[in-house]
Amino acid sequence: MGGVKQKAPQLIMGKHSPVIHKLRKAMEFYQELGFEYLPVKGLDIRKSLSGTVDGHHPETPADDTSGPAAERGDRGGALESLRNEIGDCIRCKLSTGRKNIVFGEGNAGAALMFIGEGPGRDEDIQARPFVGDAGKLLTNLIVKLGLKREDVYIANIVKCRPPGNRNPQPDEISACMPFLERQIEIIKPGVIVCLGNVAAKAILGSSVPISRLRGTFYDYHDIPVMPTFHPAYLLRNSKAKWLTWEDMQKVLEQLKS
Ligand code: URA
Repeated sequence: MGGVKQKAPQLIMGKHSPVIHKLRKAMEFYQELGFEYLPVKGLDIRKSLSGTVDGHHPETPADDTSGPAAERGDRGGALESLRNEIGDCIRCKLSTGRKNIVFGEGNAGAALMFIGEGPGRDEDIQARPFVGDAGKLLTNLIVKLGLKREDVYIANIVKCRPPGNRNPQPDEISACMPFLERQIEIIKPGVIVCLGNVAAKAILGSSVPISRLRGTFYDYHDIPVMPTFHPAYLLRNSKAKWLTWEDMQKVLEQLKS
């Protein structure tokens, strides 16, 4: 009449513990279902990135009106002057096919700056970066990070749409980069996220593919740069969203440090 002996549950939390194994399996299951993140309650990242919610870095005095706009902390004014300087640009051949210049938009004092490749059809029409399908994905990602689109700054390597959405060519990038460089100088973000190969190559000067670059910080004039997948790639490769989510967790950590 011996009963079946019940094995005591193992609570050892080592690398190979059954608990960790089950957790890993559960995570893989959720990932395959298309979950992009597991929500964590109680973390207000906007507060953690203090000073960015109202549009200014904490060290920026609101009423300092002496000296040139960028130096006195009037980042919005400095960006406006830069936009005026660009004018109705004809510095490269992209000017012949564009409808609008897409300068970039967002918080002039943003701690976090995203840099894409160049405007697509929707962006060209609306004169705003990342407003098409890839843009919606990027906006979702920003919101899932606990931020609003208005908290960050979004720009591109080139400000005019390459015909048929081809990659921008080296002469087009060279003509446009000085303006992006000055945008970065004005905004002084705490972290730059390069979206895709074109942005990573132009900012970091590296031809290593994004699949190998991503997930590690690099340096651009003392600003940490995280390369990650372009949202358009994520639209076609849903599983890579998980990797981008991991990259963005590192970005949040960096911003909090
Ligand atoms: N892709 C980009 O790289 N930039 C945009 O603004 C839109 C789509």
